[in-house]
Formats: sequence, structure tokens, C-alpha cells
Amino acid sequence: MAIVNGNYAKLQDSYLFTDIAKRVAAFTAAHPEKKIIKMGIGDVTLPLAPCVVDAMKKAVEELGHKETFRGYGPEQGYEFLHEAIQKYYARHGVKLDTKDIFISDGAKSDCGNITDLFEDTNVVLVPNPVYPVYADTNVMRGRKILYMNGTPQNHFLPMPDDSVKADIIYLCSPNNPTGAVYTREQLEKWVAYARKNDAIILYDAAYEAFITDPSIPRSIFAIPGARECAIEFCSFSKTAGFTGTRCGYTVVPQELVRRTPDGKELHLNTMWLRRQTTKFNGVNYFVQRGAEAAMSVLGEKQCGDMLDYYRENARIMMRTFDKKGYTYFGGVHSPYVWMQCPKGMKSWDYFDYLLNKLAIVGTPGSGFGSMGEGYLRLTAFGSREGTIEAMKRIEKDSL
Ligand code: MLT
Repeated sequence: MAIVNGNYAKLQDSYLFTDIAKRVAAFTAAHPEKKIIKMGIGDVTLPLAPCVVDAMKKAVEELGHKETFRGYGPEQGYEFLHEAIQKYYARHGVKLDTKDIFISDGAKSDCGNITDLFEDTNVVLVPNPVYPVYADTNVMRGRKILYMNGTPQNHFLPMPDDSVKADIIYLCSPNNPTGAVYTREQLEKWVAYARKNDAIILYDAAYEAFITDPSIPRSIFAIPGARECAIEFCSFSKTAGFTGTRCGYTVVPQELVRRTPDGKELHLNTMWLRRQTTKFNGVNYFVQRGAEAAMSVLGEKQCGDMLDYYRENARIMMRTFDKKGYTYFGGVHSPYVWMQCPKGMKSWDYFDYLLNKLAIVGTPGSGFGSMGEGYLRLTAFGSREGTIEAMKRIEKDSL
């Protein structure tokens, strides 16, 4: 008899964004005349950068000719993309070896798949509120999860507590959902904690390109000692508009070593290579060529213009909230504005209010964890017109 994984019964019925999509679909069916403005899921709206499109077209053309056709590529990605990422990191002051870099279809998959490398007895430390993937993928494995609270007092940046013993720590900076960003000093404390406890930091840097202050690290590997205690996930989704195109990467330093239950030392880089070559067949050649272009100096400039557009959307939102006297976080080194629901409303109540009264879709903060209750996340990834129109509706509204 096949027995299914009972841990799935411990999960909520559906994934947060699936739940929201269902509610929005029901609203649209009931009110087809209303013009909905979607500021919920962090999905980009600008087209791919011209140099990315050119690189992809050229690569597709290559696939159409016998001499340049390619079949299976390396599961961990092509060397040309490893080198492009290595140069991008170097331009931002971080040295990587190309063998540290693994290309994938996105940071979400890797954040979940990395759990394969760890015994289920590990204790996992996760911020609350947090991107639901970190907690859910560990619930699926039946691991013990400890939460560290993000609050307005700690600016939604929980710090290590020596009385808490964790083996695996998820950090996300710039943070999804709160938009908060760890400083260098704060990340140094996390690296010190991980080294002292032989823990591993799983660092989600998917929003690193939104950082504009050069004193704020864009990578955990900007911190000395991180190569022995951290893995970093990154993505072209937000940096280069690849949410639909799909491409990301994970950096697993070759120095990172931990023991098996019977004391054998294993390199996590070798384990991840083994895992990926067994369960993954790599990303499309032309997508990797597009990603390579995005990492070039020209690509960084063209993608940077896209990020500027989204940054301006965030500023438009923040100006409206300032006028209304709302409390909010994020929005500066992040495409997310994390607002306190007006008049002490609960997250889902305010979500429903915005949807039904103003036809605006946000993401209820409580969907990211209990500490998100009373907050709502709005994304700046929409169009300029949509953002302005949504803010006009909020400004005119009596709440
Ligand atoms: C979000 O809205 O939190 C993100 O778009 C989800 C993701 O990147 O998977």
C-alpha cells in the first residue's frame, strides 16, 4: 500500500498566491465591469531588456542550424553564464569561483530543493513574517521550525539570539515581504552566530538589485567568513524581468562542509551537484544566453532602467501613504511597500476592503506569518498608470 507524506496534511490548503488568485477570479466574475489593479504577487510588467531579447533570438537561431544546434546542456548551467555571474558579483565587490555557481529555473525551486541536502532532524529558524516557501518546504519534510519575530521595533529585521539553537537559518534581504534590508554589521552578527553554532544560513538575495546604497551588502558573501556557513539564492526574475522566462542561480561555496549523522564530512557543493545532476536537466540554452546578456555591463544598465521605473512606482506609493498618514516599511531598497492596515484592520479584512471597494489587489500580511497580521504588502512591479490610479483611489477613499 502506498502511504503518502503525512506532513502535507499539516500545510494550509493552498499556497498564499493561489488563494489570492482564486478570490480575485471570483471578484472579476461577479464584477466584470470593474478595472482591477493588481498589486499582489510580485510579478514584473515591463518587457525584457533589448540586449536580453537580442541574445535570446540569436541563441534560438543557433538551435535552428545543424552546426550550432545543442541538446542537453550541463545540469548546473553553461560556463558562459557562470562567468557572467562571476563578473557581475566582482563588479559589486564579491569574489566567486565559477564552480560555486549553479543555474536553475529560479530561486523558489532552489530554496525548496535545497532541503534535500539536510537531515530531517535539523532545527530550522525562519523569520516571521516571511516568504512562505521557506517554512512550507520544511513542513513538507516534517522538520522542527522555530520562528523569529519581525516587528516594527526591530524594523522587521530579527537578529540572532544566543539562547536559540538552530541548524538552518533562512534570511531574506531585501526582505520579502517587508522590504527591510540588513546592514553589513547585522549580517556580520548572523555569520558569527552561524559559525559559532555550525549552522548554515540559506540567504535569499532575489531582490539584491534593488539596493542602491553601496554600504549595504548585496550578497552574504560580502561578509568575511560567510563562505564557510552560507548558501545564496538569486534570481533573474526581479533583476531582469524573468518571472515568466524562468532562470535563477544558487551559490554553494566549495569551502562549505558539514558532517553526516555518522560523522563523515561532505562538501555541500558536491552534494548539490549530485542532487541537481540527478533530479534536474538544466535551463534552456536560449534562456541562459538571455541571462548572460542581463549580467553584462550593458544588461545591468538596461535592467537598471527597469528597476528605476519600479523604484519610482514605490515612491509614488510612499508619497500617497505619507499624505494619508499611514505607517509603512520598505519601498526604498525593495519593490515592496509593507503597510500597516489603516484603523487597526486585520490583513484579510483590509485585503477584502481594497478589492471590493477600490478594486485593488494587495497581499495580506498574515499570509506571510502571524507577525504579518495587521499589515498588507503592495508591489511596485505594476505599470506607472496602474500605480498612479491605485494611489488616487486610496487617496480619495475615506479610510
Ligand atoms: C512574491 O510575490 O512574493 C513573489 O513574486 C513570489 C515569488 O517570487 O515566487
